[in-house]
Amino acid sequence: MRLQFSKRITEYRLAKELFNRGKSIILSPEAQATKQFIQHGETTVFEHCLAVAKFSLLIAHFLERTLKIEVDKDSLVRGALLHDYFLYDWHDICLANIVHGFTHPGTAKRNAERDFELNDIEKDIIAKHMFPLTPFLPTYRESLIVSIADKWCALAETFKIDVSSYIIYRVNFNIALAEGGCSINYGETLAEA
Ligand SMILES: [Fe+2]
Ligand SMILES: [Fe+2]
Repeated sequence: MRLQFSKRITEYRLAKELFNRGKSIILSPEAQATKQFIQHGETTVFEHCLAVAKFSLLIAHFLERTLKIEVDKDSLVRGALLHDYFLYDWHDICLANIVHGFTHPGTAKRNAERDFELNDIEKDIIAKHMFPLTPFLPTYRESLIVSIADKWCALAETFKIDVSSYIIYRVNFNIALAEGGCSINYGETLAEA
């Protein structure tokens, strides 16, 4: 994980913004439980959701700065963090998991509604992030942003392209600080740093 200084500063700021906007979810034991499930390749669901939140924020900053399109970044980050909150290993071979791609947005939304307070934008982000695989058109621009970021991250993770390890490291560092822990388990992500 070698980043140019300017890129590292950008990633540092993004990680700080991501953590501040999504803190109540990131620090919850419910969201932490997603660390035990693999999403793509060797990436856990927790790491994947951090990566999707990062790229969603990057797209939002671009839209706001260049096109003056406002984005609800709190809802954007919270929705991104919970978009794959389905809480099972979809790699287990069973009938239910064969249709995982079509059914997990609904499962994630039900789980997230049960465990967190969500607004309409956050619910829409989770329910429609698999568009166009699932035929539900995103209602909000935040939902479309997360759907695009999700596809890029899925591609990068599947082909082991490192686009998020620094931000995952920074967020894990913030988690350890918030929890007052002095030993931090970064897993393979930091080991590669
Ligand atoms: Fe998903
Ligand atoms: Fe995803």
